[in-house]
Amino acid sequence: MDTISSDFPIFQRYPRLIYLDNAATTQKPRPVIEALREFYENYNSNIHRGVYSLSEQATDIYERSRERVARFIGADPSQIVFVKNATEGLNLAISNMRSREIVSTIYEHHSTLLPIYRYSKSYRLERDPYRIRSSNIVINHLSNVTGKVIDIQIVRDNNPDAVIVVDGTQYIPHFRMDLKKIDVDFYAFSPHKMLGPTGIGILYIRDPMKYEPLIYGGGTVSNVTERMYRLLDNNSRYEAGTPPIAEAYASSVAMDYLEAHREHLERLDREILKEANRLFDEYRIYPINRDQDVPIFSFYFQRIHPHDVAEILDTAHNIAVRSGYHCAQPLHEHLGIGPTTRASFYIYNSIEHLNRLMEALKNVVRKFT
Ligand SMILES: Cc1ncc(COP(=O)(O)O)c(C=O)c1O
Repeated sequence: MDTISSDFPIFQRYPRLIYLDNAATTQKPRPVIEALREFYENYNSNIHRGVYSLSEQATDIYERSRERVARFIGADPSQIVFVKNATEGLNLAISNMRSREIVSTIYEHHSTLLPIYRYSKSYRLERDPYRIRSSNIVINHLSNVTGKVIDIQIVRDNNPDAVIVVDGTQYIPHFRMDLKKIDVDFYAFSPHKMLGPTGIGILYIRDPMKYEPLIYGGGTVSNVTERMYRLLDNNSRYEAGTPPIAEAYASSVAMDYLEAHREHLERLDREILKEANRLFDEYRIYPINRDQDVPIFSFYFQRIHPHDVAEILDTAHNIAVRSGYHCAQPLHEHLGIGPTTRASFYIYNSIEHLNRLMEALKNVVRKFT
């Protein structure tokens, strides 16, 4: 076990597991697991409400976590909103484009498509993101099916005055982000896909006072009478109810971990992409596209259902992959294919895992032909 894998207790529990479902969620390193325990053992109390010292400490941890998250993406803490997951963040953003004409792409996840269908007056899904010309744009930064990055700067340059909502869920786990350099209105992502806990999502809002919450309730108001309420003039207006306090803290610890291992991740991504492209030719097993920017590979085999592929990889080879439409059914339809098998790599994977995957896929193909 290399030094990075040894930080992840799950690989001690399952030493033979080759985990390649990282685009769905990643495993958690020990410091992140310990952060959750540390919070509950030492600081547990509700925030922003109590005047006793335990609550003040919990509030301090929560707000310092917000500062850490802000630093991670080049934002100001006042622009960071903690929600349940990226999906909730995207719903919040897109609900503020209610009754407008939205242009998006065919590469989107259902977590953007469904709120677009629900809230827009009308919508169009462009095939080429760089052809978008609109005042209201919703766009992913990196596709969870093709592994391809969309250059958001080009989209902004083409649409200088547009409201732009970006789904950064797959981009943030792999690349540095500086929102001071890219001008977008909303940017959503999920810590659980970058070594952090589930139960929390992050939404960056460039101008937090311009929009309305998606969920209403305690902690969001400055005044409530029998007839009216007045929302707070800060980002707390979006955080109704008890927020994910321990999860915010554990997310900040995940960001520390990721920063400390950033070079390893970048090198690994490059090496896996390079080696994968060589192995695809050697094994004559090809993913649906060959121009990935991160190691997310979706495969489609004639006459073999992807669920069968995933099941054999699991039972015969201890390889965990995902199969299905990956919440991007319109994209699969556009590509003229059915469901696919997706292998996605992250920081604790290795070239050895890639070799084992290719060998296993060869066995599956042999078995069915
Ligand atoms: C591109 C993309 N957007 C949004 C989501 C939704 O993320 P979450 O399930 O954390 O809300 C995912 C998760 O698979 C994703 O891959």
